[in-house]
Amino acid sequence: MSFSHPRTLPSYRRRSPPTSNLYTAINSSSMSPESTSLHFRHILAAALLFAVVSLSCLLLFRDNDYSHFASSYSFPRFPTGFPFASDDPVATSNEYPLEKILSEAAMEDKTVILTTLNEAWAAPNSVIDLFLESFRIGVHTRKLLNHLVIIALDQKAFIRCQAIHTYCFLLVSEGSDFREEAYFMTPRYLKMMWRRIDFLRSVLEMGYNFVFTDADIMWFRDPFPRFHHSADFQIACDHFTGSFDDVHNRPNGGFNFVRSNNRSIEFYKFWYSSQETYPGYHDQDVLNFIKIDPFINDIGLKMIFLDTANFGGLCEPSRDLNQVCTMHANCCYGMDSKLHDLRIMLQDWRHYLTLPPSLKRLSIISWRVPQNCSLDSLKTNGSPEKSVEED
Ligand SMILES: *[C@@H]1O[C@H](CO)[C@@H](O)[C@H](O)[C@H]1NC(C)=O
Ligand SMILES: *[C@@H]1O[C@H](CO)[C@@H](O)[C@H](O)[C@H]1NC(C)=O
Repeated sequence: MSFSHPRTLPSYRRRSPPTSNLYTAINSSSMSPESTSLHFRHILAAALLFAVVSLSCLLLFRDNDYSHFASSYSFPRFPTGFPFASDDPVATSNEYPLEKILSEAAMEDKTVILTTLNEAWAAPNSVIDLFLESFRIGVHTRKLLNHLVIIALDQKAFIRCQAIHTYCFLLVSEGSDFREEAYFMTPRYLKMMWRRIDFLRSVLEMGYNFVFTDADIMWFRDPFPRFHHSADFQIACDHFTGSFDDVHNRPNGGFNFVRSNNRSIEFYKFWYSSQETYPGYHDQDVLNFIKIDPFINDIGLKMIFLDTANFGGLCEPSRDLNQVCTMHANCCYGMDSKLHDLRIMLQDWRHYLTLPPSLKRLSIISWRVPQNCSLDSLKTNGSPEKSVEED
């Protein structure tokens, strides 16, 4: 190999919901039913889904898990005697294929915003609520919710998604067991991370540009004015060296903007296939290996690293609140710590918004984070090697 082995930073810096590959659209809660009949079919689909989910719950959550599930989630209610038996189960599961959801959610230039959601992050007052809240209180970000598609990775995340958002898509893998959690860096976790790359490749092949964002990234300003015009693949960084084309930047796969074209599709295929070259690594580590591969030049892919001044995180906060677009709860270990620091971040942002313009300009406020996410707290609270619930 002609390149040096990049320094491997601890893997706890980045955890995001895993993704699987065999996508099945069960439903999307479209706000604009084209006709009463479509609307009825929608309800029917939802009812059937509810029946299926309820059944799975009875089967899967007989023990303590069930009470937890029942208390954490509010189910949609349906009139009794509703005809649950559908003549057409296929129409139910494919009522809204991915392509239809993407076309409804896309901006005029066929760009969508994608995030993935699993059960742990879907619970009320957990990550997804903070994520959506950031769009609502950000500057020019609320309108972007119309272009956000939440990719649910399990049934509970899907049900919760439909209660809080317009565009939900259920991505299930065959034979997956909903009770089973994916533990960080286990083979199952790695497999799901890689399936996400494969899924995103398929979105590109359908002709959609996307911003992929982890849900533990707060959107405080519209990032689109900050994207480079000519780049195929732009990605946020844990550490930014100061130069947008310097391959020594430390990209973080939790946030990227990818334009759909032959180069980006080739690149995603290459990235995906590189897991065989680097077995045992997750997609972000492999990206760090392949970012300097000659193949990238051969296909002409233009890769850009985004400045942490605009696209910051707990690894390297975006110091000036006048500049920040997004803030990622990266470099964070443990779900409680993450939620804690995300909430502080939202408080800081709200405080900033209350300042008069003259004080905003003086940049007198800076983030009070990281707190519980800091590496110091990691040393006292546990080791990154410990298996934790994927967060
Ligand atoms: C990819 O390249 C082919 C020709 O090589 C072209 O016909 C096609 O439109 C290109 N697709 C995209 C998405 O740019
Ligand atoms: C955050 O850290 C403080 C101080 O170490 C601790 O008392 C508190 O319990 C932590 N909170 C969470 C949610 O982890």
